[in-house]
Amino acid sequence: MTGTEPAVPRIDTSRPHPARVYDWFLGGKDNYPVDEELGRQIAAMQGDAPRHARANRGFMRRATRAVVEETGIRQFLDIGSGIPTEPNLHQVAQSVVPDARVVYVDNDPIVLAHAAALLRGTPEGMTEYVQADAREPERILEQAAAVLDLDRPVALSLIALLHFIADDDGAHELVDTLVGALAPGSCLLLSALTADFDPENVNRGIAAYTASGVTLVARSHAETGRFFEGLELMEPGIVSLSHWRPARDDEEDAGDGSTKEPVSLYGAVGFKR
Ligand SMILES: C[S@@+](CC[C@H](N)C(=O)[O-])C[C@H]1O[C@@H](n2cnc3c(N)ncnc32)[C@H](O)[C@@H]1O
Repeated sequence: MTGTEPAVPRIDTSRPHPARVYDWFLGGKDNYPVDEELGRQIAAMQGDAPRHARANRGFMRRATRAVVEETGIRQFLDIGSGIPTEPNLHQVAQSVVPDARVVYVDNDPIVLAHAAALLRGTPEGMTEYVQADAREPERILEQAAAVLDLDRPVALSLIALLHFIADDDGAHELVDTLVGALAPGSCLLLSALTADFDPENVNRGIAAYTASGVTLVARSHAETGRFFEGLELMEPGIVSLSHWRPARDDEEDAGDGSTKEPVSLYGAVGFKR
């Protein structure tokens, strides 16, 4: 593990944290009463919030497999990795290509506390965890270079991260810096909140997060598309992630709600040529 945080991180249980609220939505155990309280509030307003979280994990699995199987990319830089939930991204990638390398990055101390689970991969592959803020892209690139060959294509995965970073807090700058540093053939794999499908519920959810001191922003289709400027989108483009190559009925993801109504997150993959 690398990073400048103390070895025993201080976990603030006085206010909710996105990683732990999300863990609560997924039925995990790594959350505190304050996270559960916000999770319950959101679920009361938006009964399908846990389905959104599961559908987001389904998108991560389908998009990761698509990138590995269709492009031959074997390196991932996953920022905003979250509390480990199996299968984690490296397990999905290494199930197809055992020598896949994955660098995970998150800024929440609770993710650092659980990082050991992110570091158990295949003997042929490699995983590393970096404790850093996404708004320090240069530092992330410097540390990722210890594991990833940045002269070769890398999949930059920003899954359910960018809605926690407002445009005026550097969301576009961080994407531009990271994508700009990657080799041609690299890709950006992204999911992010939108109010396009269900504005009333999403805006109520945003208000609840904001009241708890957590930044949450929804972006329209066009605003999400700005992250992909200059990139070539993989089919089917920028769509509700439940409609991004939905799982067939006989596939693992079929039970996660990914094939049903649109969820309020866009998902897309775009390539740097
Ligand atoms: C909703 S979780 C998503 C986890 C995982 N990517 C997934 O989609 O299943 C968002 C994660 O982003 C992390 N995060 C939020 N803001 C961040 C920042 N500025 N820098 C790094 N990580 C951040 C949170 O700590 C949390 O673990």
